[in-house]
Amino acid sequence: PFVTLREVLADAERGKYAVGAFNTNNMEIVQAIVEAAQEERAPVILQASQGALKYAGIRYITAMVRAAVETSTVPIVLHLDHGTSFEQTMLCLKHGFSSVMFDGSKYSLQENIAATRKVVDVAHAMGASVEGELGKIGGTEDDITVDERDALMTDPDEAVQFVTETKVDAFAVAIGTAHGTYKGEPKLDFDRLKTIDERVETAIVLHGASGVPAESIKKAISLGVRKINIDTELRQAFTRGVQDVVQNKPGEYDPRKILGPAKEEMKAIIKEKMRLFGCSGKV
Ligand code: G3H
Ligand code: 13P
Ligand code: ZN
Ligand code: NA
Repeated sequence: PFVTLREVLADAERGKYAVGAFNTNNMEIVQAIVEAAQEERAPVILQASQGALKYAGIRYITAMVRAAVETSTVPIVLHLDHGTSFEQTMLCLKHGFSSVMFDGSKYSLQENIAATRKVVDVAHAMGASVEGELGKIGGTEDDITVDERDALMTDPDEAVQFVTETKVDAFAVAIGTAHGTYKGEPKLDFDRLKTIDERVETAIVLHGASGVPAESIKKAISLGVRKINIDTELRQAFTRGVQDVVQNKPGEYDPRKILGPAKEEMKAIIKEKMRLFGCSGKV
């Protein structure tokens, strides 16, 4: 069934596990994610970034996810990842997304609250969910000092104000993770996460989870994380699959024999993440 983010995260809170949110860009990725969810009996969030909407087009994204919903039995959410304008979130809701992220993290607290609240008002009236973000989740290429890094992290007092005033259904925090690959091991600020979780009832979202060691993921879930975003590790698995065929069967020219194995490689990673997140076997 096609469900909202709010629904799967409420179940995750009751069961104290996290739901995987995987970025999708084409048919093979949609299939890898949904087949993995079906085989693992796991609820799942498919998310499309602005890059994905530009690459595949919103009609293809929604049509592929509709086909996935029709051919599976697990709860599926279609979510906009890092939406940056009111118009874009509205377009996604109009096309049938059951959830949108409004990423106002580049604005001041007041502006972020006002803009996020505006999206929440409409989305809730339509029965859809909203994820907001406070604090800045960087890219790993951003070269910053420890003090600068601290300043970008989510402030617990501001977090309380943000979730209370916006009424978001999911809350993305900056606690030391970054989008993309990590140079060393990422250092997560678990004390900060614990403080935020104690003071905020809204489900917490961890972005940039590719490259975060399993032990840190488990600890983050034990401290309240309920949605975990993975993109980079899926891209790497897919590309590994493609390279494998291209290198070992240089005469291969059938795209299905190249993309098929790549999809399987990606599916294996997704299933591994679902077990790690504790959402396997929950539906
Ligand atoms: O958070 C960013 C996601 O990894 C999506 O990236 O905009 O290149 O699709 P993208
Ligand atoms: P990674 O690419 O590090 O997995 O981050 C994904 C993400 O946060 C998408 O919003
Ligand atoms: Zn992200
Ligand atoms: Na990452």
